[in-house]
Amino acid sequence: MSSAPVQAAVQESELAAETRFAFGRNWQRFLRVLNDDRIAEAEKSLRTMLQVDDLRSKSFIDIGSGSGLFSLAAMRLGAARVHSFDHDPNSVACAQELKRRYFPQETNWVIQQGSVLDSPYVGCLGTFDVVYSWGVLHHTGKMWQALENAILPVSSNGATAATFSGVFRLRCFSVRISPCAA
Ligand SMILES: C[S@@+](CC[C@H](N)C(=O)[O-])C[C@H]1O[C@@H](n2cnc3c(N)ncnc32)[C@H](O)[C@@H]1O
Repeated sequence: MSSAPVQAAVQESELAAETRFAFGRNWQRFLRVLNDDRIAEAEKSLRTMLQVDDLRSKSFIDIGSGSGLFSLAAMRLGAARVHSFDHDPNSVACAQELKRRYFPQETNWVIQQGSVLDSPYVGCLGTFDVVYSWGVLHHTGKMWQALENAILPVSSNGATAATFSGVFRLRCFSVRISPCAA
């Protein structure tokens, strides 16, 4: 019996693990150089993108949260509730470290490991005023499925901000989907 399919499967899973690890390692490095200026920059970028002064009384979900920087920025902008998830355990650990540093006592910032491709998981999270998924959906290998799932948690008057393929930026305000300048 040929072992080629087994070898291919092993190579594929090694590649996937390497890719995931590379992201996590990136964030660990990022943690070492994170400072107040970078955090302020992230807050400014959220304010500008969402055209708000703050996120008071808003709920915010960060799909593919990576380092957790934008979840942290949402917390600092006063979000009532933040849910961050990423399928990479190293990224999850990085976001947890940010929470430990800046919001250790807060129970309204939840960080989990999960995949945007896992429809039952995403479907169980409830709805959010802001659904944020920056630079994530095209990394999933199933971009359209990911986009479909990323829209699940948008509340009826919520906003979605997502990028994919690094070329287009998509901004969806409930039913309106319009491209804006990259
Ligand atoms: C380029 S990073 C962007 C991180 C963050 N959104 C930001 O703007 O800094 C892409 C992130 O997507 C995550 N990711 C890739 N596939 C995913 C999936 N299926 N579900 C959840 N997260 C995923 C990766 O682990 C990585 O942290």
